[in-house]
Amino acid sequence: MPQQLFADVPIESVADYWNRRPCNIRHSPRDVGTRAYFDEVEQRKYFVEPHIPRFADFPRWRGLRVLEIGCGIGTDTINFARHGAFVTAVDLSEKSLEVAQQRAAVYGVSDRIRFFRANVEELQRSLPVEPYDLVYSFGVLHHTPHPERALEQLRAYLHADSTVKLMLYHRYAWKVFQLLATASQGKFWRRAELVAKHSEAQTGCPVTYTYSRQEACRLLERQGLTVSESWVDHIFPYQVEAYKEYRYVKEWYFRHWPAALFRRLEQRFGWHLCLTARPIL
Ligand SMILES: C[S@@+](CC[C@H](N)C(=O)[O-])C[C@H]1O[C@@H](n2cnc3c(N)ncnc32)[C@H](O)[C@@H]1O
Repeated sequence: MPQQLFADVPIESVADYWNRRPCNIRHSPRDVGTRAYFDEVEQRKYFVEPHIPRFADFPRWRGLRVLEIGCGIGTDTINFARHGAFVTAVDLSEKSLEVAQQRAAVYGVSDRIRFFRANVEELQRSLPVEPYDLVYSFGVLHHTPHPERALEQLRAYLHADSTVKLMLYHRYAWKVFQLLATASQGKFWRRAELVAKHSEAQTGCPVTYTYSRQEACRLLERQGLTVSESWVDHIFPYQVEAYKEYRYVKEWYFRHWPAALFRRLEQRFGWHLCLTARPIL
């Protein structure tokens, strides 16, 4: 069962990992906490992952209540708030929350966002149970040791018309094939460990599950959710070393691909499995 692979990892190891280097913290070389820094972080994130605004559909949540799980340093959080949503943002990592809070202040949206430090697997202990119009979590639940417990907790924050939007890592992804071809040394059966080691900018992520579309839909169904839309997107086409220096140089094997063909590859073997679901009544 893929859901058991990282089940024994202590939650403290997960928190330590994200505190050491919050997600996307190096997306700009400027001073962390300045407006210029946050502007660049957002610009880089949505340049490399342009499907995020499409998936989140920020304007749709104006005047509505959004619960974001695993807000990291707050790129999407701020955008929900800027578009007029009332946001509750949760993360396990104090360091990430600190930066996200600073960011909300810099953009003058602190009054629209409540921040909570919590482990989503025990959310009801820390966050009052209230209904939300959207429960959103981008790239988070595959990093918690028991994703099914997290979903079980989240169920309580939904009303009959709530929407759930989750991005989970896709098993049948170019990134996984590439890792198997270049870093597995033929030990294909150690795929899960290999993926976890290399899934993030900082190596050695303690928990990274991946899902086929079918497994993800079943996981959600077991928690009383029905998936209304699912699609995959995102292949990172750039040379990593240049990217770290804020240059966007495509890998030689992607350089001459027609854009339409590359899009088709992303839509088939992208790393991000984006799911929209509703509670089963
Ligand atoms: C890959 S980052 C994604 C951050 C953000 N959603 C984004 O797209 O920039 C994963 C985030 O999930 C958080 N996280 C991991 N496990 C968690 C848990 N059990 N409860 C709450 N947050 C968790 C981490 O602290 C980290 O900030």
